[in-house]
Amino acid sequence: MSEKHLGVIVLAAGEGTRMKSSTPKVMHELAGLPLLGHALSTAHSLGAAHVVPVVRFERDQIASYIQDFYPTSVIADQDEVPGTGRAAECALAKFPADFEGAIVVTSGDVPLLEVATIEALLEAHLDGGYAASVLSTYTEDPTGYGRIVRDEVGTFARIVEHKDANEAELEIDEVNGGVYVFDSTLLRTALSKLDQANAQGEKYLTDVIGIALEQGLTVQALSVEDQWQVAGINDRVQLAEVSAELNARICEAWMRAGVTIVDPPSTWIDVTVQLARDVTIWPSTILKGLTSVGEGATVGPEVMAIDVEIGAGASIIKSHAVGSKIGEKASVGPFAYLRLGTDLGVDGKIGAFVETKNAKIGAGSKVPHLSYVGDAEIGVATNIGAGTIFANYDGINKHHTVIGSHVRTGSHNVFVAPITIGDGAYTAAGTAIRKDVEPGELAMNVAPQRNLADWVLEHRPGSEAAKAAEASKSK
Ligand code: UD1
Ligand code: CA
Repeated sequence: MSEKHLGVIVLAAGEGTRMKSSTPKVMHELAGLPLLGHALSTAHSLGAAHVVPVVRFERDQIASYIQDFYPTSVIADQDEVPGTGRAAECALAKFPADFEGAIVVTSGDVPLLEVATIEALLEAHLDGGYAASVLSTYTEDPTGYGRIVRDEVGTFARIVEHKDANEAELEIDEVNGGVYVFDSTLLRTALSKLDQANAQGEKYLTDVIGIALEQGLTVQALSVEDQWQVAGINDRVQLAEVSAELNARICEAWMRAGVTIVDPPSTWIDVTVQLARDVTIWPSTILKGLTSVGEGATVGPEVMAIDVEIGAGASIIKSHAVGSKIGEKASVGPFAYLRLGTDLGVDGKIGAFVETKNAKIGAGSKVPHLSYVGDAEIGVATNIGAGTIFANYDGINKHHTVIGSHVRTGSHNVFVAPITIGDGAYTAAGTAIRKDVEPGELAMNVAPQRNLADWVLEHRPGSEAAKAAEASKSK
């Protein structure tokens, strides 16, 4: 069948009241994408001529997400008439009037559905000449799902919603997965016939099945063995369950691709993350967004990395990093905080209790201990002394610091930006650098030290300190 004769409707107009949230259900995040992102990337993978998501609740938020990430979608707006049937009807109105073919309907709240499963349903639908095909599954806990009702000989008869089901129907363990293929002609005639005579007062898309049978058309319910593929998310408990399952699948795929994941249940990896061979991930590590990890790098334990490029052979331990780049064989942590725009060079080091922001740190340069580096550029092979602060903010504006290559700065320095320190310069411990330092200079502004004899004996007489000093003097 050609793509010209294939359309996809993605239902995403429901409020999702069971989430109890001000965020619409389909915008809740799962492994780095909103639920709707999973549904739309699957929908667009089918190569259909028309992909039509239907929106209503928090319409603008959802529509702008769709336009940004899936711009070839044609957005349909559902009106105030409630139900999945009405949603499909509003979507159908966006198809060209002369469209003929198969229309796949999926739900924005069913994220684990795989493209191959839809393709198999579509193939069975077309080969069997069905007017409607429903993806079902067998489950031990059918609570909340529509049940697949079959007659005495097992022929698919209709779908009954949980809230409308009688006791016998509630016992049925074959459920509607909320994924369908319809012949466009059936959909055109049937949707306008739906009523709202049910427990929820909604137009149910599922009632199209009964209408098809009344018209003498054939329908099928095809079951998928992997229940997770049709798991719908209606509340946050289901979100957590599906999240854990998806994460287990993501971890398994990476392990099969050559990544060591020491503890998959405590390792959370977004679908957008890229990992190379021989990466090792230690427990309690979260890799999000456009994070990538190069060959042989070690990440964790206890690392959160969002949009971070981690180079081959690098190591990052117990740290939080956002929008940063860590060069090959560089080391980060423990207890480092890399903020937006940190760029650590090859073999560089950002050590314990160091915060960096908008800082380019050259190859082999080190900021090993207890420092803040903000709005700075550091050359190669430079060492920043322990406890150094780059004072980049004057209360109104941010200023830049430039430090050359092969520089040695003393412990407990303050660099009052804007400031430049030349190549090969030194600074003394405890110095507040307020003037530029030329290459090769030693900068110091520490006042000469004065020692006041017997100050303690005079000002703290009788104290333990005074007694200790006296005892020491009389030795
Ligand atoms: C629906 C099915 C049920 C099936 C289940 C599978 C119906 C009547 N019931 O129930 O048989 O077992 O999915 O997950 O279809 N939506 C709209 N407009 C609306 C209402 C809903 O676009 O007016 C969208 C929602 O955003 C959601 C999808 O349709 O993405 C399903 O809606 P939901 O309310 O979750 O239906 P279920 O009760 O789960
Ligand atoms: Ca649902």
